[in-house]
Parts: sequence; structure tokens; C-alpha cells
Amino acid sequence: MNRILVTGACGQIGSELVPELRNKYGAENVVASGHITTPSEDIKNGGPYIEVDVTNYEEINESIKHHKIDTVYHLASILSALAESKRRIAYEVNFTGLNNVLESGVENKLERVMVVSSIGAFGPETPGANTPNETIQKPTTHYGISKVFTELLGNYFSVKLGLDVRGVRLPGIISWKVEPTAGTTDYAVEIFYKALQNNYYVCPLGPDTRLPMMYMPDAISALMNLADAEGTNLKHHADFNVNAMSFTPKELAEAIRSRLPDFRIEYDIDPLRQGIADSWPDKLDDTVARDEWGWSPKFGLDELVDDMIKNLSIKLNQKV
Ligand code: SER
Repeated sequence: MNRILVTGACGQIGSELVPELRNKYGAENVVASGHITTPSEDIKNGGPYIEVDVTNYEEINESIKHHKIDTVYHLASILSALAESKRRIAYEVNFTGLNNVLESGVENKLERVMVVSSIGAFGPETPGANTPNETIQKPTTHYGISKVFTELLGNYFSVKLGLDVRGVRLPGIISWKVEPTAGTTDYAVEIFYKALQNNYYVCPLGPDTRLPMMYMPDAISALMNLADAEGTNLKHHADFNVNAMSFTPKELAEAIRSRLPDFRIEYDIDPLRQGIADSWPDKLDDTVARDEWGWSPKFGLDELVDDMIKNLSIKLNQKV
């Protein structure tokens, strides 16, 4: 891994993965790419930055060739809630974009392609309590179908075409640098902004909606550690469950209130997001990732809440 391209570099995960990769591999060796979202100063000026539309094969392929890329972290994606109303663009990005990256990976004999699946790859028929790595999937969202496609196509390119494609099923990711808004799990980020700014939050999911979640530093380690794992230890490719914590809006609100005693929460359920959340598991069994490449998360709910309040209060200039 000497020359890395990150697609979707301006998004929630890309904005934090790119600086970590630049620290590890040298800033000049990590090319950040985005399309519609404006890059932060850090992403744009901390190393090479290019505009790439992943839905255009020539653009992605030329970028890989021109920058002599050997590894791609493919993060560009339209998240679950937005994809339901923007099906055509979601299809182009989530299906065609992925296929373009993998085909270009074969054409350019890339060493590795990292892809991202999600808890969205599961559906209402999936056992939700401690979802096994291998189980019924059958998602009922456009986004979830694209994530099953990501896993199956990633596995196909690995096994049939010899391209080393690896990926994890990420849960809801919580972070303070870039605020995500297009997903179903994003309430768990927004709640911190509103708690610090207004002491009050109206939650679009019901109080007892339990979902798997992860703090950003663990998501970055999951991707970078899987990328570094010894290939001969891996029996799976693009479909590893990774788990860190699970909580409900009510439990998260209580954890915030124990640090910010004036915080209040009310619920105004958004049927779209609630329907999506109800079709997803509560918690994933990640034994396969632990056994094959040593996955282990560091952050639980208390560590996450402390760190979010500390960093976000500085970012928002709020005294706590
Ligand atoms: N966080 C994502 C979403 O809610 C799940 O992969 O869309």
C-alpha cells in the first residue's frame, strides 16, 4: 500500500480517515477525492485532492492511472434515508460507482480495494438480537440492497477475479468533525449538537429503538486494520460484521443528561427513518472479524459520550 485513493473523502468517514492515512503513509501518498460535497481545508490542503465522479468510469479509471494508485478506499455512498427519495442518483453512486471502482481495480491490477457495507445489508427477516455473520439478509431499503450488492460483488471480484476486496458492515457511526444527515442512525450525532446548543432535542426515532453504533476512531481502526490484515488469514472478504455498542435514543439521552443535567428529549417519529431502523438488527455478532483479523473496539457508550461532549463543545464554542 504505497499510493492510496479515497473516494467520498469529504464525507463523515472520509474526513477522518484521510488524515489518519496521511499520517501513516505520508500526505503526498494519499489522494483524497470528492464530487459534490465541499472539502474541508484539512482534506483539500493536507495532501493531494481531486474531483472525481465515481459514476463515470473514465474519470475514476484515469485518476487511478494518473496518480499510480495501488489501493482504493471506496467510501462514496448515498446513505439510507436519502437513498429512499433519490433512487436514481443512489443507484448511480451505490451500484454503478462500486462496479466502476472494482472494474478499474482489475484493469489497473490494484493491490487492494476497501469497500464499506452496513447494518443496512440486513432486513426484517434477519435475526436481530445477535446477528450472525452468515444469515438471512433480504434488506427492504434501496441502500440496503446496494450494500448486499457491494458485499456479493466484492466477494465475486476477490474469488473469481483475484482482486483483493475487503469490507466491513459498519453500524451507525458517531463523530463530531463532520455532521452526517442522510442516514437513519444520524440522530445519534444530531442529539449532541442540539444538547449543547439548545439543551433540547426532538428525536425522529422512538425511545426504545435499539441500533448498533460505533465511535469514529473504532470505525477508522476497523477499516485500516482489515486493510493491513494478513490475506492468508482471511476466509471472508467484503462482508465482516463489526460490533461496538448498541443503545436506544432513551439510553443515549440518559447518558447525555448525566453530563448535561438540563438536557431534555422529546420524540416526533419520522415514519421513514423509524421504518428503516425497525428493519435493522439491534446488535451484530462479530466473532468472525475477531477471529480472522483481530477486530476489537475500544469505545463504549460512556467513553463516546465523554469524548463527543468534550470535542463538540470546543467546536461549537459552548461552555459545559
Ligand atoms: N449510518 C448508515 C445509515 O443510517 C447505516 O449504514 O444510513
